[in-house]
Amino acid sequence: FLEDRYRVRLQKIQDYESRVSPGAAGPGKAGGLGRVLVIDHPLIQHKLGLVRDKNTSVKDFRELVQEIAGLMVYEVTRSLSLEEIEVHTPLGPTKAFSLSGKKMAVVPVLRAGLGMVEGILRLIPNAKVGHIGLYRDPHTLEPVEYYCKLPGDIEDRDIYVVDPMLATGGSAAAAIELVKRQGGKRISLVSLIAAPEGVERVRGQHPEVDIFTAALDSHLNDHGYIVPGLGDAGDRLFGTK
Ligand code: PRP
Ligand code: URA
Repeated sequence: FLEDRYRVRLQKIQDYESRVSPGAAGPGKAGGLGRVLVIDHPLIQHKLGLVRDKNTSVKDFRELVQEIAGLMVYEVTRSLSLEEIEVHTPLGPTKAFSLSGKKMAVVPVLRAGLGMVEGILRLIPNAKVGHIGLYRDPHTLEPVEYYCKLPGDIEDRDIYVVDPMLATGGSAAAAIELVKRQGGKRISLVSLIAAPEGVERVRGQHPEVDIFTAALDSHLNDHGYIVPGLGDAGDRLFGTK
């Protein structure tokens, strides 16, 4: 039953995708349309299984979320541009590559997004970090903003908005809107687990944004939780509740 439901919803996203031009995809391409990418690397999928397990301890959960975020960076940054440089090995000169001075910003959505930041900074240590505070009203499920502090030069940066859970998509869509209002242009969203409803909402409101996720789950339950998901990411990261 779940499989059928999953297939139907995945089909909806693929239909959406087929109506847009994949060739124009990617952040920074003015007027281009973003992609929805499910990163299915075996290491990520293995760790995601452990993160989903309700018996995983807070300590392990924290470490695993950082590790998965780090592994996802590999795919998320695939389109960064390189420039050719010359270096001298002990045996003589050679051509090599260097990132072409791209400036990046990681923007976690508080609280749970914080759980991904260190894993990403381990690989891109010079990235600046902005913070957006949002919580979901438990009754309306709509996001409530309580904090926003972004790097001053956000308009010059490739921006990775990070939040482990993309459920109704309200928080992610609001976070992206806040980044745009402060001048951010090249924005990607990085989540661990997404529901089709969330993907559709973000695609609807911010069609040019690339969405990276490690899993596209079945659906949302009546309380807006992703099924099967992993439960409440913030509570599991910080040991609350
Ligand atoms: C969770 C999660 C996302 C949001 C996703 O945060 O970390 O930010 O819910 O749900 P949505 O896609 O339906 O908006 P929560 O509101 O529980 O706050 P917390 O991280 O502070 O616990
Ligand atoms: N927020 C979470 O932490 N988990 C969900 O499944 C949905 C929203």
